[in-house]
Amino acid sequence: MPATDGPSGHLGNLSTSGVRFPVKLATVPVKDVGLNAAIKAQTDPSFEVKPRIFEEFALAGRVAIVTGGNRGLGLEFAIVLAELGAKVYIIDLPETPSSDFTAAAAYVKRLGSSFEYRVSDVSKQELISKTIDEIAQENDGKIHVCVAAAGILGIEADCTDYPADMFKKVMDINCNGVFFTAQAVAKQMKQHNIAGSIIFIASMSGSVTNRVCIVARSLPQEMLRNRQ
Ligand SMILES: NC(=O)c1ccc[n+]([C@@H]2O[C@H](COP(=O)([O-])OP(=O)(O)OC[C@H]3O[C@@H](n4cnc5c(N)ncnc54)[C@H](O)[C@@H]3O)[C@@H](O)[C@H]2O)c1
Repeated sequence: MPATDGPSGHLGNLSTSGVRFPVKLATVPVKDVGLNAAIKAQTDPSFEVKPRIFEEFALAGRVAIVTGGNRGLGLEFAIVLAELGAKVYIIDLPETPSSDFTAAAAYVKRLGSSFEYRVSDVSKQELISKTIDEIAQENDGKIHVCVAAAGILGIEADCTDYPADMFKKVMDINCNGVFFTAQAVAKQMKQHNIAGSIIFIASMSGSVTNRVCIVARSLPQEMLRNRQ
């Protein structure tokens, strides 16, 4: 829970890495969850003891966006958001969504939620901004959740030989595309005063080398066969 210096929640200037800027944190109301619930239950016999975690994460009436949700992790995230009750917009490249997407869309419909598919490219700032603006307009400006899951692996190559054009493409999607997505969503959230969540999907491959691929590729074929 963020600390505040009083009921107004105003913290004044904070210093982070020598940079000073005005920060305002909203006062967070104390909820009857976790230890607070346990303590209340101890002293208040009328307090109903029941699991509250599902209510905490409920997204009924909320609008969520998932980039790269036509398949893979993005599609799994989209299903979770729909299970929690959100109306989920999936943004991806193909004109026609995948068969996995179609199956998921039918499934979440039966759960009482919905999937909407939009074609766009996160690496194109104007285009992704336009797509997200349109989604906001369809929902009275309200976007509550965004999961930026669109990403590519690029080619498998030794980093010392990695081609410049491929590296630029990876950065365009995985780095710039995530920024453009967050920027467009944040603009809408700010404009409509929504304290939503923007979630970035990273990979351990961003900080460590997946050495096993390189080792395996450099092993003689016979040794590789023995490893299977
Ligand atoms: N799969 C894993 O085990 C794993 C683990 C950790 C992190 N990640 C990360 O999660 C992200 C997604 O991984 P995945 O395995 O689901 O990948 P995936 O290839 O299965 O799915 C990625 C999706 O992003 C879409 N996409 C690519 N470029 C796009 C663009 N310019 N605009 C819009 N959509 C675009 C693709 O069409 C695809 O549907 C990646 O950033 C990846 O590094 C994956």
